[in-house]
Amino acid sequence: MHTLTQRLLERLTPAFDRLEPGADPVLRGSDRADYQINGVMPLAKRLGRNPREVAEEVVAGIDTAGLIADLEVAGPGFINVTITTDALIAQLDAMASDEALGVPADPEAGVCVVDYSAPNVAKEMHVGHLRSTVIGDSLCRTLGLLGHTVVRRNHVGDWGTPFGMLIEHLIDLGEAQAVAGLSVGDLNGFYAEARTKFDADEGFQDRSRARVVSLQAGDAETLRLWRILVAESVRYFDAVYSDLGVLLTEADVVGESSYNPLLEAVVDDLAAAGLLEDSGGAACVFPPGFTNRDGDPLPLIVRKSDEGFGYAATDLAAVRDRVATLGASRILYVVGAPQAQHFEMVFAVARMAGWLPDDVEAVHVAFGNVLGPDRKMFKTRAGGTVKLQDLLSEGIERATEALATRDHDAETLGLVARQVAMGAIKFADLSTDRARDYVFDWDRMLAFEGATGPYLQYAHARIRSIFRRLDVDHVPTGGSIQLEHPAERALARHLAALPDAIESMMESYSPSKLCTYLYDLAQHFTGFYESCSVLNAPDEATRASRLELCELTASTLRLGLGLLGIEAPERM
Ligand code: ARG
Repeated sequence: MHTLTQRLLERLTPAFDRLEPGADPVLRGSDRADYQINGVMPLAKRLGRNPREVAEEVVAGIDTAGLIADLEVAGPGFINVTITTDALIAQLDAMASDEALGVPADPEAGVCVVDYSAPNVAKEMHVGHLRSTVIGDSLCRTLGLLGHTVVRRNHVGDWGTPFGMLIEHLIDLGEAQAVAGLSVGDLNGFYAEARTKFDADEGFQDRSRARVVSLQAGDAETLRLWRILVAESVRYFDAVYSDLGVLLTEADVVGESSYNPLLEAVVDDLAAAGLLEDSGGAACVFPPGFTNRDGDPLPLIVRKSDEGFGYAATDLAAVRDRVATLGASRILYVVGAPQAQHFEMVFAVARMAGWLPDDVEAVHVAFGNVLGPDRKMFKTRAGGTVKLQDLLSEGIERATEALATRDHDAETLGLVARQVAMGAIKFADLSTDRARDYVFDWDRMLAFEGATGPYLQYAHARIRSIFRRLDVDHVPTGGSIQLEHPAERALARHLAALPDAIESMMESYSPSKLCTYLYDLAQHFTGFYESCSVLNAPDEATRASRLELCELTASTLRLGLGLLGIEAPERM
Protein backbone atom coordinates (compact mmCIF):
# COMPACT_ATOMS: atom_id res chain seq x y z
CA MET A 1 0.00 0.00 0.00
CA HIS A 2 1.24 3.49 -0.88
CA THR A 3 1.18 6.31 1.60
CA LEU A 4 -0.48 9.56 0.69
CA THR A 5 2.93 11.19 0.50
CA GLN A 6 4.22 8.50 -1.86
CA ARG A 7 1.20 8.90 -4.10
CA LEU A 8 1.72 12.63 -4.22
CA LEU A 9 5.44 12.29 -4.92
CA GLU A 10 4.63 10.06 -7.89
CA ARG A 11 2.72 13.02 -9.35
CA LEU A 12 5.38 15.62 -8.53
CA THR A 13 8.47 13.78 -9.71
CA PRO A 14 7.74 13.91 -13.47
CA ALA A 15 7.03 17.65 -13.26
CA PHE A 16 10.34 18.27 -11.53
CA ASP A 17 12.22 15.82 -13.75
CA ARG A 18 11.15 17.76 -16.81
CA LEU A 19 12.97 20.83 -15.49
CA GLU A 20 15.95 18.96 -14.08
CA PRO A 21 16.22 15.18 -13.96
CA GLY A 22 16.29 13.95 -10.37
CA ALA A 23 15.37 17.29 -8.81
CA ASP A 24 13.93 16.81 -5.30
CA PRO A 25 10.49 18.41 -4.80
CA VAL A 26 11.28 18.70 -1.04
CA LEU A 27 7.76 17.78 -0.02
CA ARG A 28 6.76 18.58 3.54
CA GLY A 29 3.56 18.51 5.58
CA SER A 30 2.07 21.93 6.13
CA ASP A 31 -0.36 23.64 8.47
CA ARG A 32 -1.62 25.98 5.80
CA ALA A 33 -2.53 23.37 3.21
CA ASP A 34 -2.03 19.60 3.33
CA TYR A 35 1.50 19.76 1.96
CA GLN A 36 4.06 22.28 0.95
CA ILE A 37 6.56 21.86 -1.89
CA ASN A 38 9.82 23.57 -0.97
CA GLY A 39 12.03 22.36 -3.79
CA VAL A 40 11.31 25.09 -6.31
CA MET A 41 13.59 27.80 -4.88
CA PRO A 42 16.76 25.71 -4.86
CA LEU A 43 15.86 24.36 -8.32
CA ALA A 44 15.32 27.87 -9.74
CA LYS A 45 18.65 28.91 -8.26
CA ARG A 46 20.41 26.04 -9.96
CA LEU A 47 18.68 26.86 -13.25
CA GLY A 48 19.35 30.58 -12.84
CA ARG A 49 15.65 31.35 -13.28
CA ASN A 50 12.89 33.26 -11.53
CA PRO A 51 11.46 30.95 -8.82
CA ARG A 52 7.84 32.00 -9.22
CA GLU A 53 8.03 31.30 -12.93
CA VAL A 54 9.55 27.90 -12.25
CA ALA A 55 6.81 27.25 -9.69
CA GLU A 56 4.11 28.06 -12.25
CA GLU A 57 5.76 25.73 -14.71
CA VAL A 58 5.92 22.93 -12.13
CA VAL A 59 2.26 23.46 -11.26
CA ALA A 60 1.28 23.30 -14.93
CA GLY A 61 3.16 20.04 -15.28
CA ILE A 62 1.54 18.14 -12.40
CA ASP A 63 -1.15 15.59 -13.14
CA THR A 64 -3.75 16.34 -10.48
CA ALA A 65 -6.47 13.89 -11.51
CA GLY A 66 -8.20 12.23 -8.59
CA LEU A 67 -5.60 13.25 -6.02
CA ILE A 68 -4.93 16.97 -5.93
CA ALA A 69 -7.66 19.52 -5.35
CA ASP A 70 -5.54 22.63 -5.40
CA LEU A 71 -2.01 23.85 -6.11
CA GLU A 72 -1.19 27.37 -5.04
CA VAL A 73 2.07 29.22 -5.60
CA ALA A 74 2.89 31.22 -2.48
CA GLY A 75 5.57 33.63 -1.30
CA PRO A 76 8.89 33.46 -3.14
CA GLY A 77 8.03 30.14 -4.82
CA PHE A 78 6.52 27.65 -2.39
CA ILE A 79 3.67 25.52 -3.68
CA ASN A 80 0.84 24.66 -1.30
CA VAL A 81 -0.92 21.41 -2.08
CA THR A 82 -4.43 20.44 -1.09
CA ILE A 83 -5.45 16.82 -1.48
CA THR A 84 -8.97 15.99 -2.65
CA THR A 85 -11.27 14.89 0.12
CA ASP A 86 -12.09 11.72 -1.81
CA ALA A 87 -8.42 10.75 -1.99
CA LEU A 88 -8.05 11.37 1.73
CA ILE A 89 -11.09 9.22 2.45
CA ALA A 90 -9.77 6.43 0.24
CA GLN A 91 -6.48 6.58 2.12
CA LEU A 92 -8.21 6.27 5.50
CA ASP A 93 -10.34 3.38 4.23
CA ALA A 94 -7.22 1.55 3.11
CA MET A 95 -5.56 2.32 6.42
CA ALA A 96 -8.51 0.96 8.36
CA SER A 97 -8.33 -2.38 6.62
CA ASP A 98 -4.58 -2.78 7.12
CA GLU A 99 -3.10 -4.20 10.30
CA ALA A 100 -0.09 -1.89 9.97
CA LEU A 101 -2.45 1.06 9.47
CA GLY A 102 -0.94 1.89 6.10
CA VAL A 103 2.67 1.92 7.27
CA PRO A 104 4.52 0.27 4.38
CA ALA A 105 7.35 -2.20 4.89
CA ASP A 106 10.81 -0.82 4.22
CA PRO A 107 11.80 -2.07 0.75
CA GLU A 108 15.40 -2.18 1.97
CA ALA A 109 14.59 -4.15 5.11
CA GLY A 110 17.35 -6.48 6.20
CA VAL A 111 18.95 -7.82 9.36
CA CYS A 112 19.23 -5.08 11.91
CA VAL A 113 21.25 -5.64 15.08
CA VAL A 114 20.38 -3.38 17.98
CA ASP A 115 22.85 -3.19 20.88
CA TYR A 116 21.09 -1.71 23.87
CA SER A 117 20.53 -1.78 27.62
CA ALA A 118 23.92 -3.42 28.38
CA PRO A 119 24.14 -3.09 32.16
CA ASN A 120 27.14 -4.42 34.05
CA VAL A 121 27.22 -7.59 36.12
CA ALA A 122 27.22 -7.08 39.87
CA LYS A 123 26.39 -3.41 39.43
CA GLU A 124 23.06 -1.67 39.73
CA MET A 125 21.58 -0.55 36.42
CA HIS A 126 21.47 3.23 36.40
CA VAL A 127 19.12 5.65 34.67
CA GLY A 128 21.46 5.66 31.66
CA HIS A 129 20.72 1.96 31.21
CA LEU A 130 17.04 2.78 31.60
CA ARG A 131 17.29 5.29 28.73
CA SER A 132 19.16 2.82 26.56
CA THR A 133 16.58 0.12 27.32
CA VAL A 134 13.57 2.30 26.59
CA ILE A 135 14.97 3.89 23.41
CA GLY A 136 16.32 0.58 22.12
CA ASP A 137 13.01 -1.14 22.80
CA SER A 138 11.16 1.44 20.77
CA LEU A 139 13.61 1.20 17.87
CA CYS A 140 13.35 -2.61 17.85
CA ARG A 141 9.57 -2.54 17.80
CA THR A 142 9.52 0.00 14.99
CA LEU A 143 12.13 -1.81 12.90
CA GLY A 144 10.02 -4.92 13.32
CA LEU A 145 6.91 -3.16 12.03
CA LEU A 146 8.91 -1.98 9.00
CA GLY A 147 9.78 -5.57 8.17
CA HIS A 148 13.37 -5.78 9.39
CA THR A 149 14.72 -8.90 11.00
CA VAL A 150 15.64 -7.48 14.36
CA VAL A 151 18.42 -9.05 16.42
CA ARG A 152 18.54 -7.69 19.95
CA ARG A 153 21.94 -7.73 21.61
CA ASN A 154 22.25 -7.05 25.31
CA HIS A 155 26.02 -6.44 25.50
CA VAL A 156 26.18 -7.01 29.24
CA GLY A 157 29.47 -6.04 30.92
CA ASP A 158 30.40 -9.47 32.27
CA TRP A 159 34.17 -9.54 31.95
CA GLY A 160 37.25 -7.66 33.11
CA THR A 161 39.53 -7.06 36.08
CA PRO A 162 36.82 -6.24 38.68
CA PHE A 163 35.69 -9.86 38.52
CA GLY A 164 38.78 -10.93 40.46
CA MET A 165 37.68 -8.94 43.45
CA LEU A 166 34.01 -9.83 43.00
CA ILE A 167 34.70 -13.55 42.92
CA GLU A 168 36.96 -13.34 45.98
CA HIS A 169 34.24 -11.47 47.82
CA LEU A 170 31.76 -14.16 46.82
CA ILE A 171 34.07 -16.78 48.29
CA ASP A 172 34.49 -14.78 51.53
CA LEU A 173 30.75 -14.38 51.97
CA GLY A 174 30.01 -17.98 51.12
CA GLU A 175 27.98 -18.80 48.05
CA ALA A 176 24.63 -19.09 49.76
CA GLN A 177 24.88 -15.76 51.49
CA ALA A 178 26.25 -13.99 48.42
CA VAL A 179 23.44 -15.34 46.28
CA ALA A 180 20.90 -14.30 48.89
CA GLY A 181 22.14 -10.71 48.73
CA LEU A 182 22.34 -10.62 44.96
CA SER A 183 18.98 -12.25 44.41
CA VAL A 184 17.18 -9.44 46.23
CA GLY A 185 18.89 -7.15 43.79
CA ASP A 186 21.45 -5.65 46.14
CA LEU A 187 24.07 -5.47 43.41
CA ASN A 188 25.57 -2.19 44.49
CA GLY A 189 25.94 -3.34 48.08
CA PHE A 190 27.86 -6.38 46.94
CA TYR A 191 30.09 -4.37 44.63
CA ALA A 192 30.78 -1.68 47.23
CA GLU A 193 31.74 -4.24 49.88
CA ALA A 194 34.18 -5.89 47.50
CA ARG A 195 35.65 -2.52 46.56
CA THR A 196 36.08 -1.44 50.19
CA LYS A 197 37.90 -4.65 51.03
CA PHE A 198 40.05 -4.30 47.95
CA ASP A 199 41.09 -0.78 48.91
CA ALA A 200 41.81 -1.67 52.55
CA ASP A 201 43.28 -5.15 52.46
CA GLU A 202 46.47 -6.00 50.62
CA GLY A 203 45.97 -9.73 50.99
CA PHE A 204 42.56 -9.41 49.36
CA GLN A 205 44.14 -7.39 46.56
CA ASP A 206 46.65 -10.14 45.88
CA ARG A 207 43.97 -12.81 45.91
CA SER A 208 41.84 -10.72 43.54
CA ARG A 209 44.68 -10.28 41.08
CA ALA A 210 45.47 -13.98 41.12
CA ARG A 211 41.77 -14.68 40.60
CA VAL A 212 41.67 -12.52 37.45
CA VAL A 213 44.53 -14.59 36.10
CA SER A 214 42.71 -17.87 36.74
CA LEU A 215 39.51 -16.44 35.28
CA GLN A 216 41.31 -15.50 32.09
CA ALA A 217 43.04 -18.86 32.02
CA GLY A 218 39.65 -20.54 32.11
CA ASP A 219 40.05 -22.29 35.45
CA ALA A 220 36.91 -24.38 35.91
CA GLU A 221 36.15 -23.50 39.55
CA THR A 222 36.71 -19.79 38.90
CA LEU A 223 34.40 -19.91 35.91
CA ARG A 224 31.76 -21.64 38.00
CA LEU A 225 31.87 -18.84 40.58
CA TRP A 226 31.87 -16.21 37.85
CA ARG A 227 28.79 -17.80 36.31
CA ILE A 228 26.97 -17.44 39.63
CA LEU A 229 27.61 -13.70 39.61
CA VAL A 230 26.47 -13.40 36.01
CA ALA A 231 23.36 -15.53 36.48
CA GLU A 232 22.21 -13.66 39.59
CA SER A 233 22.72 -10.30 37.92
CA VAL A 234 20.96 -11.30 34.73
CA ARG A 235 18.06 -12.58 36.78
CA TYR A 236 17.83 -9.18 38.43
CA PHE A 237 18.05 -7.32 35.10
CA ASP A 238 15.29 -9.54 33.80
CA ALA A 239 13.05 -8.55 36.68
CA VAL A 240 13.57 -4.89 35.77
CA TYR A 241 12.85 -5.61 32.10
CA SER A 242 9.66 -7.40 32.91
CA ASP A 243 8.51 -4.60 35.25
CA LEU A 244 9.22 -2.17 32.46
CA GLY A 245 7.50 -4.30 29.84
CA VAL A 246 10.28 -4.34 27.25
CA LEU A 247 11.11 -7.00 24.68
CA LEU A 248 14.52 -7.97 26.10
CA THR A 249 14.85 -11.47 27.47
CA GLU A 250 17.69 -13.65 28.71
CA ALA A 251 18.08 -14.98 25.19
CA ASP A 252 19.20 -11.54 24.08
CA VAL A 253 22.08 -11.44 26.54
CA VAL A 254 25.29 -11.82 24.58
CA GLY A 255 27.72 -10.35 27.06
CA GLU A 256 31.24 -9.10 26.52
CA SER A 257 32.65 -12.48 27.52
CA SER A 258 30.94 -14.17 24.56
CA TYR A 259 33.43 -12.48 22.29
CA ASN A 260 36.50 -13.79 24.15
CA PRO A 261 37.11 -16.62 21.66
CA LEU A 262 37.20 -14.06 18.83
CA LEU A 263 39.68 -11.62 20.36
CA GLU A 264 42.92 -13.30 19.29
CA ALA A 265 41.77 -13.23 15.68
CA VAL A 266 40.95 -9.54 15.96
CA VAL A 267 44.52 -8.78 16.96
CA ASP A 268 46.07 -11.22 14.48
CA ASP A 269 44.04 -9.96 11.56
CA LEU A 270 44.72 -6.32 12.39
CA ALA A 271 48.41 -7.15 12.60
CA ALA A 272 48.32 -9.03 9.30
CA ALA A 273 46.64 -6.04 7.68
CA GLY A 274 49.49 -3.86 8.94
CA LEU A 275 47.17 -1.74 11.04
CA LEU A 276 48.60 -2.48 14.50
CA GLU A 277 51.17 -0.26 16.11
CA ASP A 278 52.94 -0.58 19.41
CA SER A 279 52.39 2.29 21.81
CA GLY A 280 54.05 1.90 25.19
CA GLY A 281 53.61 -1.86 25.06
CA ALA A 282 49.96 -1.67 24.02
CA ALA A 283 48.78 -2.86 20.60
CA CYS A 284 46.90 0.03 19.01
CA VAL A 285 45.31 1.19 15.80
CA PHE A 286 45.51 4.89 14.95
CA PRO A 287 42.54 5.56 12.66
CA PRO A 288 43.13 8.72 10.61
CA GLY A 289 41.32 11.85 11.71
CA PHE A 290 41.29 11.19 15.45
CA THR A 291 43.52 13.44 17.56
CA ASN A 292 43.63 14.61 21.15
CA ARG A 293 43.65 18.24 22.30
CA ASP A 294 47.32 18.64 21.47
CA GLY A 295 46.75 17.36 17.96
CA ASP A 296 48.47 14.00 18.60
CA PRO A 297 46.95 10.93 16.94
CA LEU A 298 44.59 9.00 19.22
CA PRO A 299 44.98 5.25 19.59
CA LEU A 300 42.23 2.67 19.79
CA ILE A 301 43.78 0.24 22.25
CA VAL A 302 43.16 -3.30 21.10
CA ARG A 303 45.42 -5.10 23.55
CA LYS A 304 46.64 -3.47 26.73
CA SER A 305 50.27 -3.49 27.83
CA ASP A 306 49.39 -6.14 30.44
CA GLU A 307 48.35 -8.37 27.52
CA GLY A 308 44.66 -8.08 28.44
CA PHE A 309 42.01 -7.21 25.91
CA GLY A 310 39.84 -4.18 26.56
CA TYR A 311 36.42 -2.80 25.80
CA ALA A 312 37.46 -1.77 22.25
CA ALA A 313 38.70 -5.22 21.27
CA THR A 314 35.39 -6.71 22.35
CA ASP A 315 33.46 -4.18 20.33
CA LEU A 316 35.58 -4.88 17.26
CA ALA A 317 34.92 -8.59 17.62
CA ALA A 318 31.22 -7.84 18.05
CA VAL A 319 31.11 -5.79 14.83
CA ARG A 320 32.73 -8.65 12.95
CA ASP A 321 30.33 -11.16 14.41
CA ARG A 322 27.29 -9.03 13.68
CA VAL A 323 28.25 -8.44 10.07
CA ALA A 324 29.85 -11.74 9.10
CA THR A 325 27.82 -14.18 11.18
CA LEU A 326 24.49 -12.47 11.74
CA GLY A 327 24.46 -10.86 8.29
CA ALA A 328 23.59 -7.42 9.58
CA SER A 329 22.89 -4.67 7.09
CA ARG A 330 22.56 -2.21 9.93
CA ILE A 331 24.02 -2.09 13.45
CA LEU A 332 22.69 0.33 16.02
CA TYR A 333 24.29 1.11 19.38
CA VAL A 334 22.00 2.76 21.86
CA VAL A 335 24.61 4.05 24.29
CA GLY A 336 25.14 7.35 26.14
CA ALA A 337 26.70 10.31 24.35
CA PRO A 338 30.03 10.17 26.28
CA GLN A 339 30.92 7.04 24.31
CA ALA A 340 30.63 8.84 20.95
CA GLN A 341 34.33 8.87 20.24
CA HIS A 342 34.74 5.24 21.23
CA PHE A 343 32.15 4.18 18.65
CA GLU A 344 33.46 6.49 15.95
CA MET A 345 36.89 4.94 16.39
CA VAL A 346 35.58 1.37 16.53
CA PHE A 347 33.59 1.93 13.33
CA ALA A 348 36.59 3.57 11.64
CA VAL A 349 38.92 0.72 12.54
CA ALA A 350 36.35 -1.90 11.55
CA ARG A 351 35.99 -0.20 8.16
CA MET A 352 39.77 -0.07 7.72
CA ALA A 353 39.97 -3.76 8.49
CA GLY A 354 37.21 -4.55 6.02
CA TRP A 355 34.88 -5.91 8.71
CA LEU A 356 32.33 -3.20 8.17
CA PRO A 357 31.60 -2.85 4.45
CA ASP A 358 30.38 0.50 3.14
CA ASP A 359 26.87 -0.79 2.57
CA VAL A 360 26.49 -1.72 6.23
CA GLU A 361 25.27 1.19 8.29
CA ALA A 362 26.70 1.51 11.81
CA VAL A 363 25.12 4.15 14.00
CA HIS A 364 25.77 5.26 17.53
CA VAL A 365 22.30 6.23 18.71
CA ALA A 366 23.56 8.50 21.47
CA PHE A 367 21.52 9.98 24.28
CA GLY A 368 21.92 12.62 26.96
CA ASN A 369 21.78 12.39 30.74
CA VAL A 370 18.88 12.08 33.12
CA LEU A 371 19.07 14.95 35.59
CA GLY A 372 17.61 15.40 39.05
CA PRO A 373 15.51 18.41 40.08
CA ASP A 374 18.78 20.26 40.82
CA ARG A 375 19.77 19.75 37.17
CA LYS A 376 22.72 17.62 38.25
CA MET A 377 23.06 13.91 37.45
CA PHE A 378 20.03 12.02 38.78
CA LYS A 379 21.10 10.38 42.05
CA THR A 380 19.59 9.36 45.35
CA ARG A 381 19.65 11.87 48.18
CA ALA A 382 22.72 10.15 49.52
CA GLY A 383 24.41 10.58 46.16
CA GLY A 384 24.15 6.92 45.09
CA THR A 385 22.77 5.24 42.02
CA VAL A 386 18.98 5.22 41.94
CA LYS A 387 17.83 1.63 42.12
CA LEU A 388 15.64 1.09 39.08
CA GLN A 389 13.22 -1.26 40.79
CA ASP A 390 12.61 1.34 43.51
CA LEU A 391 12.11 3.96 40.86
CA LEU A 392 9.53 1.85 39.03
CA SER A 393 7.69 1.03 42.26
CA GLU A 394 7.60 4.69 43.18
CA GLY A 395 6.09 5.41 39.78
CA ILE A 396 3.38 2.82 40.38
CA GLU A 397 2.62 4.26 43.81
CA ARG A 398 2.35 7.77 42.45
CA ALA A 399 0.19 6.64 39.53
CA THR A 400 -2.08 4.80 41.98
CA GLU A 401 -2.52 8.03 43.92
CA ALA A 402 -3.19 10.01 40.75
CA LEU A 403 -5.87 7.52 39.71
CA ALA A 404 -7.45 7.21 43.14
CA THR A 405 -10.34 9.55 42.38
CA ARG A 406 -11.60 7.35 39.56
CA ASP A 407 -13.78 4.51 40.63
CA HIS A 408 -11.81 1.45 39.67
CA ASP A 409 -11.98 -1.84 41.50
CA ALA A 410 -8.70 -2.79 43.13
CA GLU A 411 -7.62 -5.12 40.35
CA THR A 412 -8.22 -2.63 37.55
CA LEU A 413 -6.54 0.10 39.58
CA GLY A 414 -3.45 -2.06 40.01
CA LEU A 415 -3.28 -2.85 36.32
CA VAL A 416 -3.93 0.67 35.12
CA ALA A 417 -1.52 2.24 37.62
CA ARG A 418 1.26 0.03 36.30
CA GLN A 419 0.45 0.89 32.69
CA VAL A 420 0.26 4.59 33.49
CA ALA A 421 3.50 4.62 35.49
CA MET A 422 5.50 2.87 32.78
CA GLY A 423 3.82 5.00 30.12
CA ALA A 424 4.76 8.14 32.02
CA ILE A 425 8.39 7.14 32.51
CA LYS A 426 8.85 5.94 28.93
CA PHE A 427 7.10 8.86 27.28
CA ALA A 428 9.08 11.40 29.32
CA ASP A 429 12.25 9.71 28.17
CA LEU A 430 11.30 9.22 24.54
CA SER A 431 9.63 12.56 23.92
CA THR A 432 12.71 14.68 24.56
CA ASP A 433 15.15 14.81 21.71
CA ARG A 434 17.37 11.87 22.64
CA ALA A 435 20.60 13.82 22.37
CA ARG A 436 19.48 16.22 25.08
CA ASP A 437 19.55 15.85 28.85
CA TYR A 438 16.19 15.85 30.62
CA VAL A 439 15.05 16.41 34.16
CA PHE A 440 13.34 13.46 35.84
CA ASP A 441 10.20 15.05 37.22
CA TRP A 442 7.40 12.81 38.53
CA ASP A 443 4.75 15.53 38.62
CA ARG A 444 5.35 16.54 35.05
CA MET A 445 5.58 13.05 33.57
CA LEU A 446 2.48 11.83 35.41
CA ALA A 447 0.32 14.85 34.53
CA PHE A 448 -2.87 14.10 32.63
CA GLU A 449 -2.41 17.31 30.65
CA GLY A 450 0.31 18.23 28.19
CA ALA A 451 2.64 16.01 26.21
CA THR A 452 2.76 13.07 28.60
CA GLY A 453 2.21 9.33 28.45
CA PRO A 454 -0.87 9.46 30.67
CA TYR A 455 -2.45 12.17 28.50
CA LEU A 456 -2.14 9.99 25.41
CA GLN A 457 -3.26 6.89 27.25
CA TYR A 458 -6.24 8.84 28.48
CA ALA A 459 -7.04 10.02 24.96
CA HIS A 460 -7.15 6.37 23.93
CA ALA A 461 -9.24 5.25 26.91
CA ARG A 462 -11.68 8.11 26.32
CA ILE A 463 -12.33 6.95 22.77
CA ARG A 464 -12.76 3.39 23.95
CA SER A 465 -15.34 4.63 26.46
CA ILE A 466 -17.40 6.06 23.60
CA PHE A 467 -17.69 2.56 22.19
CA ARG A 468 -18.48 1.12 25.59
CA ARG A 469 -21.36 3.53 25.95
CA LEU A 470 -22.50 2.47 22.52
CA ASP A 471 -22.07 -1.13 23.52
CA VAL A 472 -20.18 -2.07 20.40
CA ASP A 473 -16.60 -3.10 20.40
CA HIS A 474 -15.59 -1.94 16.96
CA VAL A 475 -17.44 -0.10 14.29
CA PRO A 476 -17.44 -1.91 10.96
CA THR A 477 -14.59 -0.36 9.02
CA GLY A 478 -14.56 0.87 5.50
CA GLY A 479 -16.83 2.87 3.36
CA SER A 480 -18.50 5.18 5.81
CA ILE A 481 -16.08 8.06 6.26
CA GLN A 482 -17.21 11.45 5.07
CA LEU A 483 -15.27 14.62 5.81
CA GLU A 484 -17.39 17.71 6.03
CA HIS A 485 -16.43 19.67 9.12
CA PRO A 486 -12.94 21.26 9.01
CA ALA A 487 -12.09 19.50 12.27
CA GLU A 488 -12.94 16.14 10.71
CA ARG A 489 -10.75 16.91 7.76
CA ALA A 490 -7.85 18.09 9.92
CA LEU A 491 -8.03 14.90 11.96
CA ALA A 492 -8.18 12.77 8.81
CA ARG A 493 -5.18 14.52 7.31
CA HIS A 494 -3.18 13.91 10.46
CA LEU A 495 -4.21 10.25 10.62
CA ALA A 496 -2.97 9.73 7.07
CA ALA A 497 0.44 11.13 8.08
CA LEU A 498 1.29 8.24 10.42
CA PRO A 499 3.72 6.62 7.95
CA ASP A 500 5.52 9.95 7.52
CA ALA A 501 5.93 10.32 11.26
CA ILE A 502 7.43 6.85 11.52
CA GLU A 503 9.69 7.50 8.58
CA SER A 504 10.98 10.68 10.12
CA MET A 505 11.51 8.91 13.44
CA MET A 506 13.63 6.24 11.79
CA GLU A 507 15.60 8.67 9.65
CA SER A 508 17.23 10.00 12.78
CA TYR A 509 16.41 7.15 15.18
CA SER A 510 14.46 9.70 17.25
CA PRO A 511 11.34 8.35 18.91
CA SER A 512 10.57 11.95 19.89
CA LYS A 513 9.29 12.49 16.35
CA LEU A 514 6.63 9.86 16.86
CA CYS A 515 5.83 11.28 20.32
CA THR A 516 5.15 14.68 18.77
CA TYR A 517 2.95 13.09 16.10
CA LEU A 518 0.89 11.25 18.71
CA TYR A 519 0.49 14.31 20.89
CA ASP A 520 -0.68 16.31 17.86
CA LEU A 521 -3.06 13.49 17.00
CA ALA A 522 -4.61 13.66 20.46
CA GLN A 523 -4.95 17.43 20.06
CA HIS A 524 -6.61 17.04 16.64
CA PHE A 525 -8.94 14.49 18.15
CA THR A 526 -9.90 16.86 20.96
CA GLY A 527 -10.60 19.57 18.39
CA PHE A 528 -12.79 17.18 16.44
CA TYR A 529 -14.59 15.82 19.48
CA GLU A 530 -15.35 19.30 20.78
CA SER A 531 -16.86 20.54 17.55
CA CYS A 532 -18.43 17.40 16.09
CA SER A 533 -20.83 15.49 18.23
CA VAL A 534 -20.45 11.79 17.71
CA LEU A 535 -23.17 9.95 19.58
CA ASN A 536 -25.67 12.74 18.90
CA ALA A 537 -24.63 13.31 15.30
CA PRO A 538 -27.33 14.91 13.10
CA ASP A 539 -27.89 11.75 11.07
CA GLU A 540 -26.96 8.09 10.90
CA ALA A 541 -24.37 8.48 8.10
CA THR A 542 -22.54 11.26 9.94
CA ARG A 543 -22.58 9.25 13.12
CA ALA A 544 -21.13 6.20 11.39
CA SER A 545 -18.43 8.32 9.79
CA ARG A 546 -17.50 9.98 13.06
CA LEU A 547 -17.41 6.68 14.88
CA GLU A 548 -15.05 5.43 12.25
CA LEU A 549 -12.79 8.44 12.76
CA CYS A 550 -12.85 7.67 16.49
CA GLU A 551 -11.97 4.08 15.83
CA LEU A 552 -9.12 4.96 13.52
CA THR A 553 -7.76 7.48 15.99
CA ALA A 554 -7.83 4.89 18.77
CA SER A 555 -6.06 2.32 16.57
CA THR A 556 -3.43 4.86 15.58
CA LEU A 557 -2.80 5.86 19.18
CA ARG A 558 -2.57 2.20 20.15
CA LEU A 559 -0.15 1.37 17.35
CA GLY A 560 1.96 4.46 17.97
CA LEU A 561 2.12 4.01 21.73
CA GLY A 562 2.89 0.35 21.10
CA LEU A 563 5.93 1.33 19.05
CA LEU A 564 7.09 3.36 22.04
CA GLY A 565 6.57 0.29 24.24
CA ILE A 566 3.64 1.99 25.98
CA GLU A 567 0.39 0.19 26.66
CA ALA A 568 -2.93 1.75 25.71
CA PRO A 569 -5.40 1.03 28.52
CA GLU A 570 -9.05 0.40 27.69
CA ARG A 571 -10.14 2.48 30.67
CA MET A 572 -8.38 4.88 32.96
N1 ARG B 1 28.21 -1.79 29.60
C1 ARG B 1 28.43 -0.49 29.05
C2 ARG B 1 28.05 0.58 30.08
O1 ARG B 1 27.41 0.30 31.05
C3 ARG B 1 27.64 -0.23 27.81
C4 ARG B 1 27.93 -1.13 26.63
C5 ARG B 1 27.43 -0.57 25.36
N2 ARG B 1 27.57 -1.45 24.22
C6 ARG B 1 28.72 -1.71 23.59
N3 ARG B 1 28.71 -2.54 22.59
N4 ARG B 1 29.86 -1.15 23.93
O2 ARG B 1 28.43 1.74 29.89
